[in-house]
Amino acid sequence: MAGRFITFEGIDGAGKSTQIDRLQTLVEASGRVVCRTREPGGTPVGEKIRGILLAEDMTPETETLLFFAARAEHAARKIRPALERGEWVISDRFTDATYAYQVGGKGMSGERVEALERWTLGGFEPDLTVLFDISPAAAARRLAARAGAEDRFEAMGEDFFAKVRAAYLERARRRPERFLIVNAELAPELVFDAILRKVSPWL
Ligand SMILES: Nc1ncnc2c1ncn2[C@@H]1O[C@H](COP(=O)(O)OP(=O)(O)OP(=O)(O)O)[C@@H](O)[C@H]1O
Ligand SMILES: [Mg+2]
Repeated sequence: MAGRFITFEGIDGAGKSTQIDRLQTLVEASGRVVCRTREPGGTPVGEKIRGILLAEDMTPETETLLFFAARAEHAARKIRPALERGEWVISDRFTDATYAYQVGGKGMSGERVEALERWTLGGFEPDLTVLFDISPAAAARRLAARAGAEDRFEAMGEDFFAKVRAAYLERARRRPERFLIVNAELAPELVFDAILRKVSPWL
């Protein structure tokens, strides 16, 4: 049985973790091994970089380089080995997030990010990317209802998230073969149905 690499993308509070829980349960029930992971993070080095990224102020250039440092480690030491073992890898965010947050949200050069992507990942990409599309206002209401302190990204305003959302959508429209765009404002059951329609042929 072949492994699959599925990534979940979308602005903070879109509902990614909620649906990853469901998908993990379903895929494991089918007898597959699931490697659940997240970005930034996923490895010991990556989790340390995550701590810096979510807490410290830094330039968009520094931020982008740290994301790719963590991602290079993540792909080489965790994701690719799991896929080679035939596991399903489900990652809460991956490269598309850098195009959405650092390029779309913060104005980093897309060409520089493409160069970093080529250098660190070659052509390595997910088999499927589920994009959770939601208005920044609706996502902010969900985050406000959730307990816990905000990180540096969650604290950005709705204008920032509007740019991130637009960048995600543009990227997805240009890559329809890899992306599934779901309306994340629907009830959780309906969001999951849309994901299942895409994933069940692989099970
Ligand atoms: N479809 C939905 N409808 C309404 N509320 C939802 C839906 N999906 C998730 N929620 C709720 O919204 C909040 C945010 O969801 P969740 O933590 O899954 O989002 P997330 O995308 O993982 O956020 P983050 O990017 O901050 O990790 C949670 O309190 C969750 O219970
Ligand atoms: Mg989450």
